[in-house]
Amino acid sequence: MRAVEIKKDLFYVGVNDRTKHLFETLWPLPQGVSYNSYLLVDEKTVLFDAVDISYSDVFFSKLENALNGRTLDYLVINHIEPDHSGSLSSLKTKYPHIEIVGNARTADMLKGYYGITDNLKIVSDGDELVLGKHKLHFYLIPMVHWPETMATYDSADKTLFSGDAFGAFGALDGGITDAQLRPEKYWDEMIRYYSNIVGKYGSPVQKVVEKLSKIEIATICSTHGPVWTKKENITKVIALYDKLSKYEADHGVVIAYGSMYGHTEQMAEAIASELAAQGIKDIVVHNVSVSPHSNIIRDVFKYKGLIIGCPTYNNQLYPEMDSLLTKLASREIKNRYFGYFGSFTWAGAAVKRLAAFAETSGWEVVGAPAEMKQSMDQKAYEAAIALAQAMAAKI
Ligand code: FEO
Repeated sequence: MRAVEIKKDLFYVGVNDRTKHLFETLWPLPQGVSYNSYLLVDEKTVLFDAVDISYSDVFFSKLENALNGRTLDYLVINHIEPDHSGSLSSLKTKYPHIEIVGNARTADMLKGYYGITDNLKIVSDGDELVLGKHKLHFYLIPMVHWPETMATYDSADKTLFSGDAFGAFGALDGGITDAQLRPEKYWDEMIRYYSNIVGKYGSPVQKVVEKLSKIEIATICSTHGPVWTKKENITKVIALYDKLSKYEADHGVVIAYGSMYGHTEQMAEAIASELAAQGIKDIVVHNVSVSPHSNIIRDVFKYKGLIIGCPTYNNQLYPEMDSLLTKLASREIKNRYFGYFGSFTWAGAAVKRLAAFAETSGWEVVGAPAEMKQSMDQKAYEAAIALAQAMAAKI
């Protein structure tokens, strides 16, 4: 396999994965995902991150092509999660003299995951490494989204190797840089990636945005998705991460409901219809048992309003809703307007449990909860409409 030179001295040696169904065995990959790895060739040769173990053969083929007979001097590990380091043991076998560059937290994980303790170059925030005409600067950016995460900046070319930061789901279908492809298909996948993978760590991401605002960036090479080279796209990518990490959102409402026989679904329909009647244009309705929770989380990051509803099940929340709420709670999303509704057949628990969730979420509760016994009647319908009107007034 041929490596692709994406700018002078810099080769893309990453791979696409269109086989895996679930990233982290959790998040669907309808358009696949790329594991990006880059080789910089100077007086020294440096690889930035590696790839998932499943694609080692393709990766090594590209790497050898880019090295063109030279050896590999350094591997910079910006992030050691196994989607970027699974091929590491084979890499060490092929290039036994390689020096691995990471920080103290990386060293701990290198030992734990791969038993590697030798030929390490431990760097701290602000350290530099001269390769020839290229000079690398290391920025520690912990908790984006692991404690060892860092970014590396090549000041000669103003290229930022950012690890998972600024990454997106979606394989690279031929083109690698944004100049070679249509970026439109990646924006929603970037939000889904951010919200699913990084979403809990808004505050550390804010520190990254602040830290990187001091350097001039001409190219962003992240570990997933396109390489960003166009000024307008670099601005957009950084602004998107800035907005998402502040938990800022657009004027719209997500309605996520569970329903076994369609009665609770009718409440969701009534709420959605009334929101539209009130002039809200961005309304996304998700059946929690059908929509991937990954997409629901993405939309909760996109929009200010969230209305949740489900039936009572075994005196608890409907289990799929319970699962979604657990995922939402662990992301500690801030500044949302929250409304809720529920149903029961003989003893109500859903609305009580949603009230408890509302309490712990810290979100502003909007309107009165709408509760329905068995099926829609005038009282339940009017409560649903009132809830929609209260949300519309806030949004
Ligand atoms: Fe792409 Fe956090 O690994």
